[in-house]
Amino acid sequence: MRKKIIAGNWKMNLTLAEAVAIAKGLVSASQTSTHEVMIFPSALHLESVSGIAKGSKLIVGAQNAYQSGLTAMTGEISPVQLAELGITTVLVGHSERRQFLGETSEFDQAKISYFLKAGLRVVYCVGETWAEREKGNTFSVLEDQIRKGLKDITSDLFANLVIAYEPVWAIGTGKVATPVEAEEAHAFIRKEIGNLFVGASAISEKIQILYGGSVKPDNIKDLLTKPNIDGGLVGGASQKLESFLGLLK
Ligand code: 13P
Repeated sequence: MRKKIIAGNWKMNLTLAEAVAIAKGLVSASQTSTHEVMIFPSALHLESVSGIAKGSKLIVGAQNAYQSGLTAMTGEISPVQLAELGITTVLVGHSERRQFLGETSEFDQAKISYFLKAGLRVVYCVGETWAEREKGNTFSVLEDQIRKGLKDITSDLFANLVIAYEPVWAIGTGKVATPVEAEEAHAFIRKEIGNLFVGASAISEKIQILYGGSVKPDNIKDLLTKPNIDGGLVGGASQKLESFLGLLK
Protein backbone atom coordinates (compact mmCIF):
# COMPACT_ATOMS: atom_id res chain seq x y z
CA MET A 1 0.00 0.00 0.00
CA ARG A 2 1.02 3.60 -0.52
CA LYS A 3 2.57 5.18 2.55
CA LYS A 4 1.00 8.47 3.62
CA ILE A 5 3.07 11.65 3.57
CA ILE A 6 2.49 14.68 5.77
CA ALA A 7 4.52 17.50 4.24
CA GLY A 8 4.94 21.08 5.42
CA ASN A 9 5.65 23.79 2.86
CA TRP A 10 7.01 26.70 4.87
CA LYS A 11 7.19 28.98 1.81
CA MET A 12 8.85 32.36 2.57
CA ASN A 13 7.75 32.17 6.21
CA LEU A 14 9.48 31.63 9.57
CA THR A 15 12.71 33.04 10.95
CA LEU A 16 15.71 30.75 11.26
CA ALA A 17 15.06 30.35 15.00
CA GLU A 18 11.43 29.40 14.39
CA ALA A 19 12.33 26.94 11.64
CA VAL A 20 14.97 25.29 13.83
CA ALA A 21 12.56 24.99 16.76
CA ILE A 22 9.83 23.32 14.69
CA ALA A 23 12.34 20.99 13.01
CA LYS A 24 13.66 19.90 16.42
CA GLY A 25 10.13 19.09 17.54
CA LEU A 26 9.46 17.11 14.38
CA VAL A 27 12.58 14.95 14.60
CA SER A 28 11.19 12.85 17.45
CA ALA A 29 7.65 12.87 16.04
CA SER A 30 8.94 11.56 12.71
CA GLN A 31 10.65 8.63 14.45
CA THR A 32 7.38 7.28 15.80
CA SER A 33 4.98 8.34 13.03
CA THR A 34 3.63 5.75 10.63
CA HIS A 35 3.63 8.48 7.95
CA GLU A 36 6.52 9.99 6.03
CA VAL A 37 7.14 13.43 7.56
CA MET A 38 8.54 16.03 5.20
CA ILE A 39 9.34 19.75 5.43
CA PHE A 40 10.27 22.35 2.84
CA PRO A 41 12.01 25.25 4.64
CA SER A 42 13.37 28.42 3.05
CA ALA A 43 16.56 27.76 1.05
CA LEU A 44 18.48 29.87 3.55
CA HIS A 45 17.45 27.54 6.36
CA LEU A 46 18.19 24.26 4.60
CA GLU A 47 21.67 23.85 6.03
CA SER A 48 20.60 24.32 9.65
CA VAL A 49 17.39 22.33 9.34
CA SER A 50 18.95 19.43 7.45
CA GLY A 51 21.65 19.31 10.13
CA ILE A 52 18.94 18.87 12.75
CA ALA A 53 17.15 16.19 10.72
CA LYS A 54 20.33 14.24 9.98
CA GLY A 55 20.06 10.61 11.04
CA SER A 56 16.31 10.89 11.73
CA LYS A 57 13.30 10.00 9.58
CA LEU A 58 12.40 13.66 9.05
CA ILE A 59 12.76 14.42 5.33
CA VAL A 60 13.96 17.91 4.45
CA GLY A 61 13.31 19.09 0.90
CA ALA A 62 13.94 22.23 -1.15
CA GLN A 63 11.09 24.46 -2.37
CA ASN A 64 12.87 24.96 -5.67
CA ALA A 65 16.06 24.09 -7.54
CA TYR A 66 17.47 24.60 -11.01
CA GLN A 67 17.98 21.83 -13.53
CA SER A 68 21.75 21.97 -13.83
CA GLY A 69 25.04 21.14 -12.23
CA LEU A 70 27.20 23.98 -10.92
CA THR A 71 27.00 26.80 -13.47
CA ALA A 72 26.37 30.51 -14.10
CA MET A 73 22.70 30.84 -13.07
CA THR A 74 22.23 33.79 -10.75
CA GLY A 75 19.88 33.29 -7.84
CA GLU A 76 19.30 29.57 -8.38
CA ILE A 77 20.32 26.40 -6.52
CA SER A 78 21.80 23.25 -8.06
CA PRO A 79 20.92 19.72 -6.93
CA VAL A 80 24.68 19.31 -6.50
CA GLN A 81 24.58 21.94 -3.75
CA LEU A 82 21.48 20.35 -2.21
CA ALA A 83 23.19 16.94 -2.21
CA GLU A 84 26.04 18.39 -0.14
CA LEU A 85 23.44 18.97 2.58
CA GLY A 86 21.94 15.51 2.09
CA ILE A 87 18.84 17.00 0.44
CA THR A 88 17.33 14.87 -2.30
CA THR A 89 13.71 16.03 -2.39
CA VAL A 90 12.43 19.04 -4.29
CA LEU A 91 9.06 20.73 -4.92
CA VAL A 92 8.24 21.61 -8.51
CA GLY A 93 5.45 23.70 -10.00
CA HIS A 94 3.87 25.17 -6.88
CA SER A 95 1.01 27.44 -7.93
CA GLU A 96 2.69 30.48 -6.35
CA ARG A 97 5.60 29.96 -8.74
CA ARG A 98 3.22 29.36 -11.65
CA GLN A 99 1.06 32.42 -10.83
CA PHE A 100 3.61 34.98 -9.76
CA LEU A 101 6.90 33.85 -11.29
CA GLY A 102 5.65 32.66 -14.65
CA GLU A 103 6.55 28.97 -14.29
CA THR A 104 4.89 26.83 -16.93
CA SER A 105 4.29 23.09 -17.08
CA GLU A 106 6.84 22.92 -19.93
CA PHE A 107 9.48 24.55 -17.72
CA ASP A 108 8.50 22.23 -14.89
CA GLN A 109 8.93 19.22 -17.21
CA ALA A 110 12.57 20.17 -17.74
CA LYS A 111 13.05 20.33 -13.97
CA ILE A 112 11.19 17.09 -13.26
CA SER A 113 13.10 15.21 -15.93
CA TYR A 114 16.48 16.51 -14.78
CA PHE A 115 15.84 15.96 -11.07
CA LEU A 116 14.45 12.45 -11.46
CA LYS A 117 17.37 11.44 -13.68
CA ALA A 118 19.71 12.90 -11.06
CA GLY A 119 18.11 10.59 -8.48
CA LEU A 120 16.09 13.22 -6.62
CA ARG A 121 12.55 12.74 -5.40
CA VAL A 122 10.14 15.26 -6.92
CA VAL A 123 6.85 16.55 -5.55
CA TYR A 124 5.06 17.98 -8.61
CA CYS A 125 2.20 20.40 -7.81
CA VAL A 126 -0.86 20.78 -9.99
CA GLY A 127 -4.22 22.45 -9.49
CA GLU A 128 -6.85 24.71 -11.00
CA THR A 129 -7.80 28.29 -10.16
CA TRP A 130 -11.31 29.21 -9.02
CA ALA A 131 -12.07 30.76 -12.43
CA GLU A 132 -11.04 27.53 -14.13
CA ARG A 133 -13.19 25.44 -11.76
CA GLU A 134 -16.19 27.73 -12.25
CA LYS A 135 -15.94 27.34 -16.01
CA GLY A 136 -15.94 23.56 -15.57
CA ASN A 137 -12.31 23.29 -16.68
CA THR A 138 -10.83 21.56 -13.62
CA PHE A 139 -10.14 18.27 -15.37
CA SER A 140 -8.81 19.81 -18.59
CA VAL A 141 -6.41 21.98 -16.57
CA LEU A 142 -5.19 18.97 -14.57
CA GLU A 143 -4.85 16.91 -17.74
CA ASP A 144 -2.75 19.65 -19.35
CA GLN A 145 -0.50 20.05 -16.29
CA ILE A 146 0.02 16.28 -16.03
CA ARG A 147 0.59 15.68 -19.75
CA LYS A 148 2.99 18.61 -20.19
CA GLY A 149 4.78 18.31 -16.86
CA LEU A 150 5.33 14.56 -17.17
CA LYS A 151 5.99 14.45 -20.92
CA ASP A 152 8.75 11.99 -21.85
CA ILE A 153 9.34 10.91 -18.25
CA THR A 154 10.32 7.27 -18.59
CA SER A 155 8.68 4.50 -16.58
CA ASP A 156 11.80 3.83 -14.50
CA LEU A 157 11.69 7.37 -13.06
CA PHE A 158 8.18 7.30 -11.60
CA ALA A 159 9.20 5.60 -8.36
CA ASN A 160 10.62 8.92 -7.16
CA LEU A 161 7.64 11.04 -8.19
CA VAL A 162 4.97 12.36 -5.84
CA ILE A 163 2.05 14.51 -7.05
CA ALA A 164 0.42 17.26 -5.00
CA TYR A 165 -3.08 18.33 -6.01
CA GLU A 166 -3.44 21.89 -4.74
CA PRO A 167 -6.50 23.75 -5.98
CA VAL A 168 -5.33 27.37 -6.13
CA TRP A 169 -8.61 28.61 -4.64
CA ALA A 170 -8.01 26.55 -1.51
CA ILE A 171 -4.46 27.76 -0.81
CA GLY A 172 -4.26 30.08 2.17
CA THR A 173 -7.98 30.87 1.91
CA GLY A 174 -9.43 28.61 4.59
CA LYS A 175 -11.65 27.22 1.81
CA VAL A 176 -10.68 23.55 1.79
CA ALA A 177 -11.86 21.24 -0.99
CA THR A 178 -14.37 18.74 0.36
CA PRO A 179 -13.06 15.17 0.64
CA VAL A 180 -15.39 14.31 -2.29
CA GLU A 181 -14.04 17.14 -4.50
CA ALA A 182 -10.46 16.27 -3.63
CA GLU A 183 -10.96 12.53 -4.17
CA GLU A 184 -12.52 13.20 -7.57
CA ALA A 185 -9.47 15.22 -8.65
CA HIS A 186 -7.01 12.68 -7.22
CA ALA A 187 -8.72 9.78 -8.96
CA PHE A 188 -8.64 11.77 -12.21
CA ILE A 189 -4.90 12.54 -11.82
CA ARG A 190 -4.14 8.87 -11.15
CA LYS A 191 -6.12 7.85 -14.23
CA GLU A 192 -4.34 10.46 -16.37
CA ILE A 193 -0.92 9.20 -15.25
CA GLY A 194 -2.13 5.70 -16.04
CA ASN A 195 -2.87 6.85 -19.58
CA LEU A 196 0.56 8.38 -20.22
CA PHE A 197 2.10 5.30 -21.81
CA VAL A 198 1.65 1.55 -22.14
CA GLY A 199 2.13 0.00 -18.72
CA ALA A 200 1.61 3.30 -16.87
CA SER A 201 -1.56 2.12 -15.20
CA ALA A 202 0.28 -0.19 -12.77
CA ILE A 203 2.82 2.56 -12.10
CA SER A 204 0.11 5.13 -11.36
CA GLU A 205 -1.30 2.88 -8.62
CA LYS A 206 1.97 3.29 -6.71
CA ILE A 207 2.21 7.08 -6.91
CA GLN A 208 1.50 9.03 -3.76
CA ILE A 209 -0.90 11.91 -4.47
CA LEU A 210 -1.08 14.57 -1.75
CA TYR A 211 -3.84 17.11 -1.24
CA GLY A 212 -2.92 20.72 -0.43
CA GLY A 213 -5.04 23.78 0.31
CA SER A 214 -6.14 24.89 3.79
CA VAL A 215 -5.40 21.50 5.36
CA LYS A 216 -5.72 21.75 9.15
CA PRO A 217 -5.55 19.26 12.03
CA ASP A 218 -9.36 19.26 12.13
CA ASN A 219 -9.99 18.48 8.45
CA ILE A 220 -7.08 16.21 7.51
CA LYS A 221 -8.63 13.02 8.88
CA ASP A 222 -11.65 13.10 6.58
CA LEU A 223 -9.45 13.84 3.56
CA LEU A 224 -7.16 10.91 4.36
CA THR A 225 -10.06 8.44 4.51
CA LYS A 226 -10.42 8.76 0.71
CA PRO A 227 -8.74 5.97 -1.28
CA ASN A 228 -6.74 8.20 -3.62
CA ILE A 229 -5.57 10.78 -1.07
CA ASP A 230 -2.14 9.73 0.18
CA GLY A 231 -1.31 12.64 2.43
CA GLY A 232 -1.20 16.40 2.67
CA LEU A 233 1.01 19.25 1.52
CA VAL A 234 0.33 21.83 4.18
CA GLY A 235 1.21 25.52 4.30
CA GLY A 236 -0.11 27.58 7.23
CA ALA A 237 -0.91 24.69 9.59
CA SER A 238 2.62 23.28 9.22
CA GLN A 239 4.24 26.46 10.46
CA LYS A 240 3.52 25.93 14.18
CA LEU A 241 4.86 22.84 15.93
CA GLU A 242 1.66 22.13 17.85
CA SER A 243 -0.45 22.27 14.73
CA PHE A 244 2.03 20.13 12.72
CA LEU A 245 1.90 17.53 15.49
CA GLY A 246 -1.90 17.75 15.29
CA LEU A 247 -1.69 16.84 11.59
CA LEU A 248 0.36 13.75 12.43
CA LYS A 249 -2.09 12.41 15.00
P1 13P B 1 -2.15 26.39 2.98
O1 13P B 1 -2.15 25.09 3.73
O2 13P B 1 -1.64 27.54 3.77
O3 13P B 1 -3.48 26.64 2.32
O4 13P B 1 -1.07 26.21 1.78
C1 13P B 1 -1.13 25.10 0.97
C2 13P B 1 0.07 25.09 0.12
O5 13P B 1 0.24 25.90 -0.78
C3 13P B 1 1.09 24.05 0.38
O6 13P B 1 2.03 23.99 -0.64
